[in-house]
Amino acid sequence: MSFKLEGTLRWTKASEPEIAALKDLQGNILDGHGRKATRHVFLRFGSNAEEARAFVREYAEQVTSAFRQLTEAQRFRAHGVSGPPFIGLLLSSSGYAALGASEKAPQPDDKGAFAEGMLARSGLLADPEPDQLDEPYRQRIDAMVLIGGNPDAPDSWESTEAENAETRLLNIMRGRAEVVATEIGRAIFRDNGEDESGIHKIEGIEHFGYVDGRSQPLMLDELIERERDESDGISVWDPTFPIGQVLVPDPGSPAPDTAFGSFFVFRKLEQDVAGFKAREEELGKSVDLGAQGELMVATLVGRFEDGTPVVLQRDGGGDNPVMNNFDYAGDPDGLRCPLHAHIRKTNPRGDSVRQFGVSLEEERSHIMARRGMTYGRRDRVVDPSDAPSGGVGLMFMAFYRNLATGFEFTQASWANNPGFVRPGTGRDPIIGRRGNKAPEELTIRKTWGKRDAEVAKTGFDEFVRHKGGEYFFAPSISTLLAL
Ligand code: HEM
Repeated sequence: MSFKLEGTLRWTKASEPEIAALKDLQGNILDGHGRKATRHVFLRFGSNAEEARAFVREYAEQVTSAFRQLTEAQRFRAHGVSGPPFIGLLLSSSGYAALGASEKAPQPDDKGAFAEGMLARSGLLADPEPDQLDEPYRQRIDAMVLIGGNPDAPDSWESTEAENAETRLLNIMRGRAEVVATEIGRAIFRDNGEDESGIHKIEGIEHFGYVDGRSQPLMLDELIERERDESDGISVWDPTFPIGQVLVPDPGSPAPDTAFGSFFVFRKLEQDVAGFKAREEELGKSVDLGAQGELMVATLVGRFEDGTPVVLQRDGGGDNPVMNNFDYAGDPDGLRCPLHAHIRKTNPRGDSVRQFGVSLEEERSHIMARRGMTYGRRDRVVDPSDAPSGGVGLMFMAFYRNLATGFEFTQASWANNPGFVRPGTGRDPIIGRRGNKAPEELTIRKTWGKRDAEVAKTGFDEFVRHKGGEYFFAPSISTLLAL
């Protein structure tokens, strides 16, 4: 086996077999593709399986390998030269079947998650009924093509590059597959101007206005060293993860020793920005926090809008880059960062070790490589000031080695579970779903870090709506070429 799944990888010093594996692995898995404008084209293959396979074989030539992505990113950092658009091609379980290639599909031990698909798992995930999803996501989806390009200008919603790549895809498809849906992603930003040291700070944000994408499992030695040396360090929260955190052998390839893939979750999550912002403000007032209003709001996510972790300080304005070297060992009872905060629910950083005695390794096994992208137009790309109540949101995307122990566990057993990490914790106020159950109340502490702080109980609605999605596998390029 070329990759040692139980370790990290130093890709710039990779051995020949490791390079062969990196050239066969799709990009975006071990590190994000970094493009700011995306197209997500969801496909259904036609009834002629041979024609569909021919399309996949032909389009596989365009797919960006991990090796190419990493080499191009290195060149970009050194010389500012951007490579061609990023292309990824992912297959659902129905996609393998429609290609007449079910025997090549991965057979994970995931309680049927991949084989059944996301729609069939809606009960477990407490997702809405199909009639509340966007129309395309009520139907069978066989594949997703991910195109990543550069925007035409820093403040432009358009990306001619991504659009042209989409046209090339449609030309190659030529009736061999049909488009079920196309989603357009565009990263949005906040411009903070210059700080005291003259550094111009532009932050990538999600639609509620919070810095996103900061905390990730790092599997490449080069990224781990950069985090250690150029960020706030890795001494408390260690972001080092083995590549097997997300990679699994791909059984579909004719060269199984160098073929790996990863399971992938796509969820279109619409954000009611107007509702969330109004509720934030109302909440700040209702618990009478005065100047602490921002703190109160930050406790929902667990970070201030600028990314400062609320467990570390009671005000925003933390370091650049955004801090990530923290855990909750000094705050086991949630006096600073509530136990229900989004980032604490989705990465408890030791809470479940203390509470249930599971090993830290077991807790960390659920961690995902997030590759999300915001969608929908606001009044501006940089510093949007409007507050839409729909039409914008997050395309949540993440890679996992196992959909049941990864995504489904995090969503159902942590975020949706009011009893995690302790009875009375409440659901995750950002992504927690209650299904048909009555809304329960969140406990808000009125003073940061004080054990005898006055406590307010308040209901919190769901401002993030699931509009549909699917489970996919990112096969090795050799699998796609050999279909
Ligand atoms: C519209 C929906 C969502 C919004 C607005 C949102 C927002 C955020 C923000 C602002 C952060 C903090 C920045 C960071 O640490 O990178 C974060 C972190 C995170 N989110 Fe979400 N998120 C959403 C959906 C999800 C979903 C569906 C999941 C998984 C089921 C998820 C899992 C995580 C994880 C694992 C982290 C990092 C926690 C850590 O390591 O400390 N998020 N999210």
